Amino acid sequence: MSDWAIRVRELRYAYPDGREALRGLTLTVARGEKVALVGPNGAGKSTFLLHLNGLLRGEGVVEVLGMPVVEANFPRLRAQVGLVFQDPDDQLFSPTVFDDVAFGPLHMGLSAEEVRRRARQALEAVGMLHAAHRMPHHLSLGERKRVAIATVLAMRPELLLLDEPTAGLDPRARRSLIALLGTLPQTILVATHDMRLAAALCRRAVVMDEGLIVADGPADRLLTDAALMEAHGLEVACEC
Ligand SMILES: Nc1ncnc2c1ncn2[C@@H]1O[C@H](COP(=O)(O)OP(=O)(O)OP(=O)(O)O)[C@@H](O)[C@H]1O
Ligand SMILES: [Mg+2]
Repeated sequence: MSDWAIRVRELRYAYPDGREALRGLTLTVARGEKVALVGPNGAGKSTFLLHLNGLLRGEGVVEVLGMPVVEANFPRLRAQVGLVFQDPDDQLFSPTVFDDVAFGPLHMGLSAEEVRRRARQALEAVGMLHAAHRMPHHLSLGERKRVAIATVLAMRPELLLLDEPTAGLDPRARRSLIALLGTLPQTILVATHDMRLAAALCRRAVVMDEGLIVADGPADRLLTDAALMEAHGLEVACEC
């Protein structure tokens, strides 16, 4: 078993309209690491995450959990790599919240009882069990975001990719999500503008700008480097 969760070499990707979103990105993340991916709007954070479960395919090497991200590995990748999309409406498609959260476990060949248990537990973890029988599209944005996170938690993937998980969450939900993520043993890569999330959860930070990684190091050093943060449209993490 490889000791890294993510190994990407010289990844390049241009959208069909020609926009170059990734321009030779190289990154290795060890198993069990929690890494914050920060950078200004349009830096390529979401585009990068979409390459790690094969939803986008660029040029270069992309390997996750010891597997090249190629079609032959998609079934295993889908079970072991959980991506929470930036927009929860990209994640939720079932008639009820419960069905959405049960969908992943259901397709992992688990018993009906285990599927129910996992779905309930994941909904409980994000404080949305009370909404299990509601329609996802009737929920508020923050509620939909929490359910979207639950759909991925329920699968207990080895690698969690979170795109702006705290966006739209109220302060209490945000705090409890940060605490919950901190207890998970899995590898986490979290793209975020929430500097307090980054500082509280991650020991390592990676700064992206214009499709490239421009800094990579200890979160407590990078996220408090005012010159670095300002140069890339960010602000230093603070306890305020
Ligand atoms: N479907 C698309 N077609 C064309 N260009 C796109 C598409 N999606 C994103 N882009 C462009 O690719 C670049 C990277 O976008 P991406 O969404 O990855 O940035 P991001 O770092 O996630 O930004 P944000 O902080 O706003 O979420 C941007 O210039 C964006 O305009
Ligand atoms: Mg994004």
